[in-house]
Amino acid sequence: MSLVIKTDCSDIDWCQAAEIYHRVRMGERSPDLLEQAFQHSLTTCAIFQDNQLIALGRAISDGIYQAVLCDIAVRPDYQRQGYGKRIVSHLMEQLDVDNIILFTSPGQMPFYQQFGFHPLKAGMGWFRHPEERRQGKVID
Ligand SMILES: CC(C)(COP(=O)(O)OP(=O)(O)OC[C@H]1O[C@@H](n2cnc3c(N)ncnc32)[C@H](O)[C@@H]1OP(=O)(O)O)[C@@H](O)C(=O)NCCC(=O)NCCS
Repeated sequence: MSLVIKTDCSDIDWCQAAEIYHRVRMGERSPDLLEQAFQHSLTTCAIFQDNQLIALGRAISDGIYQAVLCDIAVRPDYQRQGYGKRIVSHLMEQLDVDNIILFTSPGQMPFYQQFGFHPLKAGMGWFRHPEERRQGKVID
């Protein structure tokens, strides 16, 4: 079994990526739009087991003040084996900024607290589909 960690997104099969987001209930993603989003990100990370994509994530940033971690997901059958931690650690190592934020769901907040993330008391978000964010318990 071979494990490969890649910090560019050139070898990602975007249909496999969309399938992971579907399986972890992070929405129905278009493979083409996913590819564009990852290509426009400051940094990305993907983990492959035997050439199959098992975990991925990305960060968008101005490289100075602000960054957002996005789309961090691990295939359900590979969760709780340290892959999510490797993705987040790599992304954060690449970011030398004042603030890093992310959206997550209440059940995943303890996962991010171990990297030093704090719950926001005064954060706000604009969403094209707020009802989906409400279902995900991101907003009231
Ligand atoms: C959240 C997620 C990225 C974590 O990745 P993972 O590979 O399952 O987690 P890891 O195995 O790297 O966990 C690292 C540590 O965090 C802990 N952990 C993982 N998920 C946790 C959770 N939901 N709550 C509390 N602790 C958690 C693990 O027990 C482990 O602890 P340890 O280092 O003391 O052993 C993954 O479970 C996932 O893809 N979930 C669904 C998608 C999602 O909700 N993404 C977030 C949207 S931004």
